[in-house]
Amino acid sequence: MNSAVIETRDLTKVYGKTKALNGLDLVVERGEIFGFLGPNGAGKTTTCRVLTTLTKPTSGSAAVSGFDVVKQAVQAKSGMGVVAQHTNVDGELSVYANLKLHGMLHKMPPWLRETRISELLEFVGLAQRRNDPARQLSGGLKRRLMIARALLHNPSVLFLDEPTVGLDAQTRRRIWDLIRRSHQAGVTIMLTTHYIEEAEALCHRVGIIDSGKLIALDSPANLLASSGTHVVEEVGGQGRSWFFESREKASRRAAEMEDTVMIRRANLEDVFIRLTGRKVRP
Ligand SMILES: Nc1ncnc2c1ncn2[C@@H]1O[C@H](COP(=O)(O)OP(=O)(O)OP(=O)(O)O)[C@@H](O)[C@H]1O
Ligand SMILES: [Mg+2]
Repeated sequence: MNSAVIETRDLTKVYGKTKALNGLDLVVERGEIFGFLGPNGAGKTTTCRVLTTLTKPTSGSAAVSGFDVVKQAVQAKSGMGVVAQHTNVDGELSVYANLKLHGMLHKMPPWLRETRISELLEFVGLAQRRNDPARQLSGGLKRRLMIARALLHNPSVLFLDEPTVGLDAQTRRRIWDLIRRSHQAGVTIMLTTHYIEEAEALCHRVGIIDSGKLIALDSPANLLASSGTHVVEEVGGQGRSWFFESREKASRRAAEMEDTVMIRRANLEDVFIRLTGRKVRP
């Protein structure tokens, strides 16, 4: 049976005059891959930072695995793995030493730590690079090391803040595979991304945040259904688009239009643009 693994209530975070989070209510269920989307500055990283105990909320509350992230920060943190938005491996340490340090910080018994390190190096495909300084890894391999590190202490929730940003398509797919396999191993995943196709490919539910508030929350299929499954799009001109609940309705409308238009199936990106108001709508 599902139960909430992440729960925020009226979560607010103010930086000076900026309300980075403005009364965010969010529930992520156990066993989900939850996608967190939003324009730049929407509050995604701030949400992750509050949930992973790196920063305190101004007001409201948040719990992970049933532990309040402020009052029970140590317990909350022990059950989570974190892959931050920016690469933060220690380049001077070897791949192995980066993992060992993490295991020590989490007070893992040495036998368990060493077993898990070997397992995870295999899991992310870095076993051959075990003794190389982390600075010698490519961007994609550093991300894989960050994922291995985040999973080392067997967390039940994994936070990934834009884990594939700047990576080529093939490397991105390898990371997707790691995310899927972690999920299959029972880890609940909160995935922040700017790549809509990533959310479509991986996520059971998607939350869209804008100006520190949740503006949509549903499965990709339901978000599409509620927005309109077909789009009539202007070719050239302003590139305006209109949403319809069926191809027939879209075709009827397109036939009435004077401009050159095309009809296509809507995707999650259309939903995002519609909800965040980034493109002209009728
Ligand atoms: N440490 C900070 N000090 C001041 N303002 C901050 C700080 N961190 C975030 N902000 C502001 O809070 C808002 C939300 O930022 P946040 O980094 O959470 O957005 P984001 O959705 O992760 O954006 P991006 O897609 O660019 O990563 C922005 O207006 C940002 O400038
Ligand atoms: Mg961010």
